[in-house]
Amino acid sequence: MNVQGKTIVITGSSSGIGAETARLLRLKGAKVIGVDRNDPMITLDGFVRADLSEQAAIDAAFKQLPEHFDALCNVAGVPGTAPVDLVARVNYLGLRHLCTRALERLPHGGAGGAIVNISSILGAEWPARLDVHKALAETPSFEAGLAFLAKNPVPQATCYQYFKEALIVWTTTQSQTWFLEKGVRMNCVAPGPVFTPILGDFVQMLGEERVQKDAHRMKRPALADEIAPVVAFLCADESRWVSGINLPVDGGLASTYL
Ligand SMILES: NC(=O)c1ccc[n+]([C@@H]2O[C@H](COP(=O)([O-])OP(=O)(O)OC[C@H]3O[C@@H](n4cnc5c(N)ncnc54)[C@H](O)[C@@H]3O)[C@@H](O)[C@H]2O)c1
Repeated sequence: MNVQGKTIVITGSSSGIGAETARLLRLKGAKVIGVDRNDPMITLDGFVRADLSEQAAIDAAFKQLPEHFDALCNVAGVPGTAPVDLVARVNYLGLRHLCTRALERLPHGGAGGAIVNISSILGAEWPARLDVHKALAETPSFEAGLAFLAKNPVPQATCYQYFKEALIVWTTTQSQTWFLEKGVRMNCVAPGPVFTPILGDFVQMLGEERVQKDAHRMKRPALADEIAPVVAFLCADESRWVSGINLPVDGGLASTYL
């Protein structure tokens, strides 16, 4: 996988999947700039501390990022045990805002730029709410998204699923315009359960019954280093014809839902 010499921005780089992706990409010769609300736990080529739930903070962080970079990995996220408003802001509205800003700085020629968004197996039911997700996807800004959500409130119990579904729908529907006009590819990676610090929150969020149901359908939760190579691949030149997909990396768990 060729990422040698690429500059790659990774949000959520201070823990879990983001940290593992950063480590792997640096090992493969990329220069990695991390963005997180917490300090990094590993060596990076640059780091910007930012609260990605606030548009102004994202804009301020963006000013500190390199003038040009080759890929953006949106890994930062909060579980559904966090308040709905925060889940909306970090997992969807802020992510979308950062992607839109990043278009200015990603390469439009050559192999082009790449954006990788971390969705989830828990976003798999997007077809059931496609109309509402498309309507949200059409809101043109962070503020307009907040106004839409004020009129169309999302219940706390399913807010994580809702915003991961929304992320898959937005990524899929937005990707081709950006690929055709800017040469920038955008894809999602959908992990199943992963051993990271927020796994316990997911157990709490889903309840014991659902967790037990899933436990019998999979070998085990993933390790973060089983997700990172797939994210890295979608940043690399070898995936230059892959755009607009939501790629499950879940040890086959999603296949058992049919
Ligand atoms: N762990 C799992 O089982 C699992 C499964 C499917 C999808 N995911 C998704 O993978 C992504 C990474 O999760 P993880 O498991 O590595 O969790 P994690 O908690 O280890 O890492 C999340 C990172 O995001 C950062 N972050 C959260 N809110 C932020 C904010 N407002 N501003 C800046 N940074 C912020 C945290 O500081 C942390 O470093 C998330 O989007 C999550 O929804 C995780």
